[in-house]
Amino acid sequence: MGIYADYAATTPVKPQVIDAMMSIYQHHYGNPSSIHTQGRDARHFLDESRRKVAQVLNAETHEILFTSGATESNNTVIKGIAQARRNKGMHLITSKIEHHSVLHVFEWLEKQGFEVTYIDVDETGRINLNQLKQALREDTTLVSIMFVNNEVGTMQPIDEIQEMVAQSQAYFHTDAVQAVGHLPIDVKELGVDALSLTAHKFGGPKGVGILYVKKGTELQYQQQGGEQETKRRAGTENVPQIVGLTEALTLADANRDAYNIHNTQLKEQLLVGLQDRAIPFELNGSMIETTNHIVNLYFPFIDVETLLTLLDLAGIFVSSGSACTAGSTIPSHVLSAMYGDYPRVTRSVRISLNELMTTEEMNRIIVEIQKIYLKFKEEEHV
Ligand SMILES: Cc1ncc(COP(=O)(O)O)c(C=O)c1O
Repeated sequence: MGIYADYAATTPVKPQVIDAMMSIYQHHYGNPSSIHTQGRDARHFLDESRRKVAQVLNAETHEILFTSGATESNNTVIKGIAQARRNKGMHLITSKIEHHSVLHVFEWLEKQGFEVTYIDVDETGRINLNQLKQALREDTTLVSIMFVNNEVGTMQPIDEIQEMVAQSQAYFHTDAVQAVGHLPIDVKELGVDALSLTAHKFGGPKGVGILYVKKGTELQYQQQGGEQETKRRAGTENVPQIVGLTEALTLADANRDAYNIHNTQLKEQLLVGLQDRAIPFELNGSMIETTNHIVNLYFPFIDVETLLTLLDLAGIFVSSGSACTAGSTIPSHVLSAMYGDYPRVTRSVRISLNELMTTEEMNRIIVEIQKIYLKFKEEEHV
C-alpha cells in the first residue's frame, strides 16, 4: 500500500459524504426545478444545503452560489466584477503567487485592455503590504488575494489587506480553497466581498464548489440559460454533489481544531525526523503564518523530478507544487516569486498532510527520504 501525502492536491471523499450523496442519487433524484413532488423533494435538499453552507460561512443564503469548483468560482467572480465595473475603472490587483485559476484570468483580462498589478511576496510567501497600499488607485475595482497558498501553506494577512482595500472603492475577493478545515471562514469577520471554495480539498467530491458573493456586489454573471441559482448560473444543479459538499464542509468545520493539532504534530515529526537524521533541507514558507497542512521543503542534494520518481517507486505520493504544474518542467511560479533562485525552485517538494495520515506513515516518508539521501551521498552526488 502506498502512502498518500498530497492532500493539498485532493482528498479522498469521506464515508459520511458518500452516504449522503448516495441517498440523493438513489432516492432524491428529481430535477430541483420541476414542480412535481419529486422535483420539490430535490429542491428541499438543495435549499437545505445552501442554508447549511451559509450558516458555516456566516453568510446569507442568497449570497451562496454553487459552482463546479474553485476554477469556475474564480473565473466567474474575477471576470464578472472586472466587466461589471469597467465604467468605474480598469485597474485590478492580485498577487504573484495565486493559483493559475486566478492568475490566468487576470492575464486574460490584460488582453481585454485591463491593467493588472501583481504584488510581490517575501521569502515566507507573504504579500508586500506597502506595495499593495501604493498600488491601490482611484480606478482599482478589484483586489484578489488568496487566503492560504496551495504550494507552501503560507497564510496572507487577510485582515490588513481587507482594511486597506476597504479604504478604496475596490472589492476584495479571496481564494480560500486551502483554508477550509484549517482556519475559520466567517465571511463577515473576514470582511470580504467574494470568496471561492472547492469541495475536493476537504473530503468532498470533485467538480463542485462555492462562490460567496456579498449582497449588492456588482458582478456580470457569465452563464446564460435557465433560471437556476437565482438566474446567476444557468444549468441543472448537481444536487448529489452539492449535498456531499455540504456534509464535507460541516465535518471540516466541526473538526478543525482536532485536524490542526494532528497536522501540526505530523509536521513537527517530519522536520525533527529529517533534522535528527542530518538530512540537509530548508523549509519553504513561514514557520508561523501557516496552516501546517502543507510542508514545502528544499532538498539541495536532489532535483525534484528525481526525488518524486524515487519516492513514487517507494510508494510515497507527494508533489512538486501545484498539481497543474506537476509533471511539467516549468518551475513553480510561487517558489520563483519567493526566492527567484533557480536551484531552490527546482529542488523543492510539497508534502501535504491530512487527518487521515498516521505517524507510522510519516515515519516511512522520513525513512525513504533518508535512504535516497544516503544513496546520493554514497554516489558522491552530494
Ligand atoms: C488555491 C486553489 N485555488 C483554486 C483551485 C482550483 O480548484 P478546482 O480544481 O477544484 O477548480 C485549487 C486546486 O488546486 C487551489 O489549490
